[in-house]
Amino acid sequence: MSPTPEKIRVELGERAYDVLVGSGLFERAGEFVAPLLTRKRIFVLTDCTVAEAHGGRLERGLAAAGIAAPLMVLPPGEGTKNWAQLGQVLDDLLDRRPERGDLLLALGGGVIGDLAGVAASLLLRGVDFVQAPTTLLAQVDSSVGGKTGVNTRHGKNLVGAFHQPRLVLADLDALATLPRRELLAGYAETVKYGLIEDPDFFAWCEANGAALIAGDLAARQHAVAYAVRAKARTVAADERESGARGLLNLGHTFGHALEAAVGYSDTLLHGEAVAIGMVLAFELSARLGLCPQGDAARVRRHLAAVGLPVDPPSRLGNSGAQLVALMGQDKKVHDGRITFVLARGIGRAFLARDVDTGVVRDVLDRALAA
Ligand code: NAD
Ligand code: GLY
Repeated sequence: MSPTPEKIRVELGERAYDVLVGSGLFERAGEFVAPLLTRKRIFVLTDCTVAEAHGGRLERGLAAAGIAAPLMVLPPGEGTKNWAQLGQVLDDLLDRRPERGDLLLALGGGVIGDLAGVAASLLLRGVDFVQAPTTLLAQVDSSVGGKTGVNTRHGKNLVGAFHQPRLVLADLDALATLPRRELLAGYAETVKYGLIEDPDFFAWCEANGAALIAGDLAARQHAVAYAVRAKARTVAADERESGARGLLNLGHTFGHALEAAVGYSDTLLHGEAVAIGMVLAFELSARLGLCPQGDAARVRRHLAAVGLPVDPPSRLGNSGAQLVALMGQDKKVHDGRITFVLARGIGRAFLARDVDTGVVRDVLDRALAA
């Protein structure tokens, strides 16, 4: 693997930033982060699993540039992304006497990245932050684009801010310790870019997905850099999701309802819910006569072939109608109508706000009975 990371710019005017994709980035973190600092100190938010696997590499990389980096270590998992932890993190940060010019670094998956992002947006009315994503999901999606959030009893990510990072360090070496199930969950969000707008990338995934999952570094570099470029383009065109960025929610309307139905437990990881949701979105599109049935079957086949779930968990105990009701709590509801991302085929996704929820219920009931 080349020692020179691939650099992808997220073009957002005065808030533009680089995403570096490559190997050995944490060991060089000091070199990348130092130009952003006003003093040689940075706060690192992480979880205990990631701290153990990669905290040392990052700390050494920062220390090499003389940067002190006290780690603030949280419990792992979706349960951490809540009000209580956010309040605790802000208090812990304030105990350390932060200054406006200080930087928060999120070392971890989407949970740590989303939580650190909200904390950074609120601390002293807003400090800068850096994303150091350690899951495939966070590298291809959540670390780029500035969406931050915590969950509340009303649903996922309902409180948060758009707060762009100053830099993203997507170190592919972090993926070496990622459990296979987490890797697959991130793979779902990777394939998503092909399903939305690029049939060639989907075909690449069909040919190379197994190698990527097995650990092929060149395949990982290609896919992560591809996904980051796609996301960077989308975010630059529509930072606040008033249009095209909504396409990145392919599979998420169904997925969030499934996550809510299992109480955000690890019965379903976010990426797994998205995988099932993407299959359902294509099956709904086919059922509505918008998309060839063959394309829907191809999506299902590929995701199942790599080992992702493609049907809702058995014994979910919810009906299609109940899941549609859960969709009504989604952020993507406009004037009471649920927004779906549908497709006219692989690589041809579009937003739809006038979908007959009777058909949605039916598609869900069939999937639940499978
Ligand atoms: P996560 O952060 O919970 O990480 C998954 C698990 O993997 C955790 O147990 C973590 O400790 C462990 N882990 C992380 N990196 C590891 C590594 N390198 N080696 C070993 N273990 C490691 O989950 P995630 O899938 O990264 O992120 C999911 C979250 O991201 C959800 O809350 C979702 O809502 C959010 N998300 C946000 C956006 C956005 O745009 N902000 C986009 C997609 C998803
Ligand atoms: N994960 C979807 C987005 O960032 O818009």
